[in-house]
Amino acid sequence: MLATTSIAQIIRERTSVKNGYIDKEVSQDLVLSLLKDAVWAPNHKLREPWRFIFVSGERREAFVEAILPCHEKSKHESVRNKFQNVPAFLVVVIEDDPRQKQAEENFAAASCMIQNLQLLAWEQDLGMVWKTPQHIRDPLFREALNVQPGEKIIGVLNIGYFDKEIIAQKVRKRIGPAEKMTAF
Ligand SMILES: Cc1cc2nc3c(=O)[nH]c(=O)nc-3n(C[C@H](O)[C@H](O)[C@H](O)COP(=O)(O)O)c2cc1C
Repeated sequence: MLATTSIAQIIRERTSVKNGYIDKEVSQDLVLSLLKDAVWAPNHKLREPWRFIFVSGERREAFVEAILPCHEKSKHESVRNKFQNVPAFLVVVIEDDPRQKQAEENFAAASCMIQNLQLLAWEQDLGMVWKTPQHIRDPLFREALNVQPGEKIIGVLNIGYFDKEIIAQKVRKRIGPAEKMTAF
């Protein structure tokens, strides 16, 4: 009989992969194929308010060069080190609507899409972490990535295959929702 994995199991197992990446290429085609499913996330008025900038391993150095000017010179070494072993990146850009309601809906829809992507990746043993470093709001970084006025970078996903033993050692817990639920 084929083993089946429930959605609940994948949701519980998935974890943010912040280190332990192995040196195996992550192709743009693979990320694109995952995104083709991930974009079936709920999104109000079907605005599909997202776009993506893929950064391959080959372009990592150029990507780091776009980040460094956003940081003090004394921090450059440690910034470089943070990116050294990350096999690929995906920058997620959304429409930054000036109306609060629409802006919140766009961010929420993109968050649903990103979680879809993380779960789909996990199913294929591909790790991700959603990062929101300060430089995503920096005009220098935005300009280097050709992000336009009216657009907002909501995160950079670090992507890579990983050493499962390292990641299995992570201690993860959640507060039971019963503790957070009241009845009206
Ligand atoms: C909106 C958002 C922003 C995040 N930003 C960062 C970040 O800047 N750096 C980081 O290491 N992790 C970041 N994370 C990952 C969280 O730290 C991680 O999801 C959390 O520790 C729970 O762990 P888990 O994903 O393994 O369940 C972010 C997650 C979300 C949803």
